[in-house]
Amino acid sequence: MGTTDWRTVNPSGDRRVVVTKELPGDRWLQLLTRAGYRVDVCTSSRILGPEEIAAALQPGCVAAIGQLTESWDAALLATLKQAGGVMYSNYAVGFDNVDVAAASALGLPVGNTPGVLTETTAELAVALTLAVARRIAEGDRYMREGRFNGWLPTLLLGELLYRKTLGIIGAGRTGTTYARMLVEGHKMDLVYYDVLPNEALEDYLADYGGFLEAHGEQPVHCRRAESIEDLLRAADVVSLHAVLDASTQHLIDAARLAQMKEHAVLINASRGPLIDEAALVEHCRAHPHFRAGLDVYEDEPALKPGLAELDNVVLVPHLGSATSWTRENMAALAATNVVAVLNGWPVWDGPDVRPFLADPSPQAAPSILNAEILNLPTVTDTSIDDRALRRRTA
Ligand SMILES: NC(=O)c1ccc[n+]([C@@H]2O[C@H](COP(=O)([O-])OP(=O)(O)OC[C@H]3O[C@@H](n4cnc5c(N)ncnc54)[C@H](O)[C@@H]3O)[C@@H](O)[C@H]2O)c1
Repeated sequence: MGTTDWRTVNPSGDRRVVVTKELPGDRWLQLLTRAGYRVDVCTSSRILGPEEIAAALQPGCVAAIGQLTESWDAALLATLKQAGGVMYSNYAVGFDNVDVAAASALGLPVGNTPGVLTETTAELAVALTLAVARRIAEGDRYMREGRFNGWLPTLLLGELLYRKTLGIIGAGRTGTTYARMLVEGHKMDLVYYDVLPNEALEDYLADYGGFLEAHGEQPVHCRRAESIEDLLRAADVVSLHAVLDASTQHLIDAARLAQMKEHAVLINASRGPLIDEAALVEHCRAHPHFRAGLDVYEDEPALKPGLAELDNVVLVPHLGSATSWTRENMAALAATNVVAVLNGWPVWDGPDVRPFLADPSPQAAPSILNAEILNLPTVTDTSIDDRALRRRTA
């Protein structure tokens, strides 16, 4: 471990936890130091390579909190295990950077941080949608370049969202929340594609349509698309919210871009490889009225040649979860996963992590991806709530 890029907190702690980036807030660090651990934190903003991380794990690291920018593959997880590691905690809800099967084979629980990114990421996707549809980034550049010489009837015309059709691919936590923000805010019809039906979303929007009608307004409609092509042909805005795996790699390629409307908006705040980015560059060049908004990139942090030169594309640097509230709570959840596994506490079996955002939080691991395969004990939502309540009032 290089000395310049690392700081040690609580050096006399009995067990060593490695954290590969500085995390926001201070609750995560309090959780780890209060549990009696020595914490080694990498202070560099550089993305660490596997050799650097492997070196930091030696000697005697019991757990690591790592980043989505690092590949926690079988070799690195084996190094963690060899160093004395008993778990790996990912500072993200997505876990495509972790070989969970390899971790399970090594007997290492893998933590992630669901539940505190959903609204934040959905809001970023909405922000990108509006920025792209209404050409906000182009307008900003136009002003800064001193090109604004007065209002014109034809200046930077964009797309109206109101009463248009929204398409989401992946109707999980983020996709559903994003869809509700735009359907309720802009009265858009929704068409969604997911490998699983989302009846709760369909029921909610059917009720919402009834509510609008009861108030003398046109209802909104929601349907599950028969295929991705069906969705692409119907939607004015298409937003990607599926997980990245073998089934979603290059889910949007040249052939599917060709199915989309001439004035369509494409948003990606999921994972970069869902889009064939070279094909997107070609499509945006050939179709100036087509617009895209990207938070994530195929070769992140690199951009495919030509992308940065396109005026009909808005680019932001993977900001989906970038609010202080979310990032601080992600840190607390990642630290709680560590403390819980090291203490042998059960795994939380409930959809809502809110009890973990308060202090003291329940004696459980908020989210362990391979809990079932490792046969870890679980504790139900209700019993956790009761216990947390008892401790708070004690
Ligand atoms: N930009 C960011 O900063 C940011 C923040 C949070 C999450 N994410 C990414 O967004 C993704 C979605 O997050 P989430 O919390 O909504 O996850 P989620 O698991 O709740 O939802 C994912 C959905 O994708 C669906 N799906 C799986 N395979 C599919 C396929 N082949 N086609 C269509 N749908 C498919 C699933 O059925 C599920 O409904 C995560 O995997 C994560 O990588 C990005």
